[in-house]
Amino acid sequence: MNKIATVVEWLRTSKKTIVLTGAGMSTESGVPDFRSASGWWTKTDPQQVATVDAMNSNYPLFHEFYSMRINLLEKCSPHEGHIILAQWEKKGIIHRIATQNVDGFHLQAGNKKVDELHGSIYTFRCKNCGKSATKEAFLNREVCVCGGKLRPNVVLFGESLPEETWMRAIANIKSAELVIVIGTSLEVYPVNQLPMMTNGKTVYINKDIAQHSSYFDCIVQGKAKETLIEINNLLTK
Ligand code: OAD
Repeated sequence: MNKIATVVEWLRTSKKTIVLTGAGMSTESGVPDFRSASGWWTKTDPQQVATVDAMNSNYPLFHEFYSMRINLLEKCSPHEGHIILAQWEKKGIIHRIATQNVDGFHLQAGNKKVDELHGSIYTFRCKNCGKSATKEAFLNREVCVCGGKLRPNVVLFGESLPEETWMRAIANIKSAELVIVIGTSLEVYPVNQLPMMTNGKTVYINKDIAQHSSYFDCIVQGKAKETLIEINNLLTK
């Protein structure tokens, strides 16, 4: 059986399927990932923009980086692969998505059961008192009533993942019969531990598969959108 047929067979028989996505899920929407040649971290040092220290010591650079990403996302939207995952949730083919992406594309595409493990870039709070703020206030560099600077509700390096969301993702992955990992280098802890926590079957769909070839039960080298379309065509045949 070829790999696409294998994934289709597993999707058909699994009673609980969880999808775990990373930045590679959104590159075909025009959003750069982090570690590819065209990724954010090949141009910008994450230590300078995506850590608590960076936010506190060089707020203008932190602000510029996240403003740039917010402005770019306004020009991008979910692609057909996202839509397929939303249809699969509606049809009961998949149970839930856990994502490292802060772009909200799974929710925009129509998935309701999404665990945003690294937060969301569309909501904001004061970095001192935690009071919520608007996107406009952040982009205009307004400050909170307490005088604190504003930040997006994303998880920065050195911060914990949102507890409830993280615990839910672990519980679901542990009890899944099938876990499909799409578009992530699995370089970042602790999310990169999730695929190892399941007793179910594991599938890895990624453009570049060199690093993880030994762990997964089935590896499909390919682009997220194209591969999901291929799987869906066979699944709905
Ligand atoms: P990475 O940039 O580390 O990995 C993206 C993976 O997707 C790479 O292995 C690419 O080869 C692959 N890829 C790119 N385009 C693809 C496509 N169209 N189809 C399939 N695969 C594709 O991104 P993440 O693993 O998501 O965290 O990164 C994890 C975390 O590191 C991010 O959430 C972010 C980052 O630093 C924080 O900022 C805290």
